[in-house]
Amino acid sequence: KHCFTKSKDGFLCCENLKVQEIMENVEKRPFYLYSKPQITRNVEAYKDALQGLNSIIGYAIKANNNLKILEHLRGLGCSAVLVSGNELRLALRAGFDPTRCIFNGNGKLLEDLVLAAQEGVFVNVDSEFDLENIVAAARIAGKKVNVLLRINPDVDPQVHPYVATGNKNSKFGIRNEKLQWFLDAVKAHHDELKLVGAHCHLGSTITKVDIFRDAAVLMINYIDEIRAQGFEIDYLNIGGGLGIDYYHSGAVLPTPRDLIDTVRELVLSRDLNLIIEPGRSLIANTCCLVNRVTGVKTNGTKNFVVIDGSMAELIRPSLYDAYQHIELVSPASPKAEVSTFDVVGPVCESADFLGKDRELPTPAKGAGLVVHDAGAYCMSMASTYNLKMRPPEYWVEDDGTVSKIRHGETFEGHIRFFEGL
Ligand code: LLP
Repeated sequence: KHCFTKSKDGFLCCENLKVQEIMENVEKRPFYLYSKPQITRNVEAYKDALQGLNSIIGYAIKANNNLKILEHLRGLGCSAVLVSGNELRLALRAGFDPTRCIFNGNGKLLEDLVLAAQEGVFVNVDSEFDLENIVAAARIAGKKVNVLLRINPDVDPQVHPYVATGNKNSKFGIRNEKLQWFLDAVKAHHDELKLVGAHCHLGSTITKVDIFRDAAVLMINYIDEIRAQGFEIDYLNIGGGLGIDYYHSGAVLPTPRDLIDTVRELVLSRDLNLIIEPGRSLIANTCCLVNRVTGVKTNGTKNFVVIDGSMAELIRPSLYDAYQHIELVSPASPKAEVSTFDVVGPVCESADFLGKDRELPTPAKGAGLVVHDAGAYCMSMASTYNLKMRPPEYWVEDDGTVSKIRHGETFEGHIRFFEGL
């Protein structure tokens, strides 16, 4: 079951509520619309897949940091994966148990590491200087830090280069040639560090589970090597990265179960706890960005649908040439001509498009138009370029009512940054 469906009379619905009606009832600006039950279903899919394994589902907060959503994910049993001190503070605010959270990153700041050490967060070691900082943080906090080594396994995730993180050109993690240096350093700092596991993250939007399997095989070999030197490590963290069906093509993509099943035997064979770090596959398909059509224009060879939303609210198409499915929320008039359009925003930038060459019935002014799969890396990457204000967020609750879960930013709020200067 998926939250976004078409009613018999051709209206787009979110959990059986017409998006057109929701649009008419909330403010007249772009907004993000989520389904809370869909978030639950996505987590349940991972939980079912993980049955029989000791595991932690570490939700990657960077994908979407709405506090209400975080509280819901925490209530469902997820822990959190963090890449900044503020993400850690927000995770604490949302009630996550810090001793099950994981702090990642190639440029973790000492002050943030101190907070992580105080709170007992797992920390992934990314480099030599990062290890030094973790040791310093442990001393300042007066606490031993549980660390995992982030190993770059050099596996090609077959995705856009900007979202590949585990190949040899990547700024993340340590290369296996250096593994011994890190093991010696951890040994030398046994008062500050306890090595508990190994981590890798290959990249994002991965649609072939073999890639995870290849990485897991390499990681298991590293774990054997590390254990052979007397380290009692229990955790294998295989990161996040599972892709979703952005194209709505009906193609059969790997599910959380497919992902977990490819590594299950390896994990069991070494009696490991499995940590996974999904972001996109938990949250992307639970949401769309709802926009209004400002007008339609033609420029010689190209037709454009101009909407009120833009690359400021949703940058993935501009930044990664990412495809996100677009549709009108209400059935078009039978007289509306179907044409090929670029769907663009009002921002002063030729990269400001949400979709290229989309077949759509020519929409009327004011028609609702959604960009699908906008739950991950959309609001969290939104900007205020051209002084567009970050949009409000709503979700459909379990009982079918609609609630606001984040206020939209306002011009007045923006002006406050300059008060009293
Ligand atoms: N763990 C680590 C260490 C990561 O770097 C990431 C994502 C994740 C977990 C979660 O990956 P996911 O399951 O969401 O694929 N802004 C880009 C995606 C950047 C992903 C960065 N790292 C996009 O919009 O496609």
